[in-house]
Amino acid sequence: MAGPRILLIVGGGIAAYKSCELVRMIRKGGGSVTCVLTDGGAKFVTPMALAALSENPVHTTLWDLRNEVEMGHIQLSRQADLIVVCPATANLLAKMAAGIADDLATTLLLATDKPVLVIPAMNVRMWDHAATRRNVETLREAGVSVMEPDEGPMACGEFGPGRLPEPEAIWRQVAEWFTGPDALPMQDGENWTPLFTETHAPADLPSFANEDDDGAPAGVGLGGLSASLIQRSGKRAAAFEDAAVTEAAVAAPAGPPPAGLVATKGKAKAAPPTDPEALNHLSGANSAPEPIAGDVHPVSVGGLPLAPFVKPGDGPLSGRHVLVTAGPTHEPIDPVRYIANRSSGQQGFAIAAAAARLGARVTLVTGPVWLETPPGVDRVDVETARQMNEAVKSALPADCAVMVAAVADWRTKDVSGSKIKKRGSAPPVLVLTENPDILATVGTSPAMRPQLLVGFAAETDKVLQHAAEKRKRKGADWIIANDVSFDAAGRSVMGGGTNTVHIVTRDGVEDLPEMSKDDVAAALVERIADALNEA
Ligand SMILES: Cc1cc2nc3c(=O)[nH]c(=O)nc-3n(C[C@H](O)[C@H](O)[C@H](O)COP(=O)(O)O)c2cc1C
Repeated sequence: MAGPRILLIVGGGIAAYKSCELVRMIRKGGGSVTCVLTDGGAKFVTPMALAALSENPVHTTLWDLRNEVEMGHIQLSRQADLIVVCPATANLLAKMAAGIADDLATTLLLATDKPVLVIPAMNVRMWDHAATRRNVETLREAGVSVMEPDEGPMACGEFGPGRLPEPEAIWRQVAEWFTGPDALPMQDGENWTPLFTETHAPADLPSFANEDDDGAPAGVGLGGLSASLIQRSGKRAAAFEDAAVTEAAVAAPAGPPPAGLVATKGKAKAAPPTDPEALNHLSGANSAPEPIAGDVHPVSVGGLPLAPFVKPGDGPLSGRHVLVTAGPTHEPIDPVRYIANRSSGQQGFAIAAAAARLGARVTLVTGPVWLETPPGVDRVDVETARQMNEAVKSALPADCAVMVAAVADWRTKDVSGSKIKKRGSAPPVLVLTENPDILATVGTSPAMRPQLLVGFAAETDKVLQHAAEKRKRKGADWIIANDVSFDAAGRSVMGGGTNTVHIVTRDGVEDLPEMSKDDVAAALVERIADALNEA
């Protein structure tokens, strides 16, 4: 079972320091944690402590331009399986019950459709107060799980119910949410067996071994930790040596934005749809470029012969729909000129072919290339990024989408209806505008997103770091990163016959050796079949 993704809201109570231990327990148990700290919470624990323990950025404000461009307060909850409020102050309970949304925590709590588990902690009189009783009742009626606080001596010197339960008890409650009461993960000294087989737990989390279990004041308990907290170790951390830094620095949410919000590259709006008639090679006779005799590059599948092709009825991808995009896009300047890139389409075609060979129904949306359609593949030819965007949307739903196409980031704002002429000495000025971001649009739309979304990142520097950023930013499951810079002999992956790719996932990086594009395709499609069939 995959480890749960917990969004932990830490409120401004004296027990907030215990949230640090809770983060550690969730991670040791195989879950991942992203923290939101209220202003009050930040008076008791620092974002740095929570960031170091969770190995995730800590979110403290609604008014974060970088996050809110992508509706961060909505996305935060979308990327979580469960929201835990710990400690939940009387103030937070009241705001939640009343539907007040005046900071990041309360706004996302109001906006979320994810389950919410609330762990109150407060002075006994606050807990017993009629207003708090009412608020707890309202929340429970609304489907929020409110854990009963412990009874005992309190920091304020009084005695009674209101103490935060011990982190271990809270972790049990969290784990039960996903496993039921019979499969509780527990600690045997410092030896943890992660509850979730697909864990987010690093091999070596900072230890609280020297701390007073009963909970020292924040300054005491956390002060001694700082050195060990900052250090990263373990397999995942090593795999993301660069990327981990990036993921912490880039607060781009992985989850989808609100339905209807179409992602664009940067802050530009999505391009309007174009004429769908022009898109479909299958229905529009003249829209597809025809192969030129003697200039075709037939796509083999892992070295196997192409014909006769009989799609297997019981292949690992039988019954699945796989959508692949391939090739470059051409962005017209005038009737004779266009902006393009060096993509040959070979890698995408090879992937489409390999998926068909494993039994998938394959739709291949391709920019202008001179490649033969692989056997068993439905091909849709397009020219521009906007056409590709529309064709992709028309082809969905799919079980898996593999976005290999090198889609142009920009197009000219205006396309001249006639050939632009040389005029004296002044060259024409081309004003560019952004194209729709197809991968992000699909990745962040709940209605369109396939079960497995795979993007490609053609990079020339900081390949893994950029790929890890891209995966988060676009809401993709995997990014296949490859270095497309020219080698010493002036060769590039784009247009070449081989590829060296790195599969960047949420859990790390798998490096594949340099292989033919057919072999890369076979390796990827095999992993795709495994991922779909495991889910
Ligand atoms: C030292 C101190 C300890 C506090 N402890 C608690 C507490 O345990 N529970 C609680 O509900 N409020 C407590 N409060 C009051 C909250 O901090 C206050 O209501 C604050 O507005 C809560 O903000 P938040 O709910 O947005 O985090 C405490 C205040 C102080 C100064």
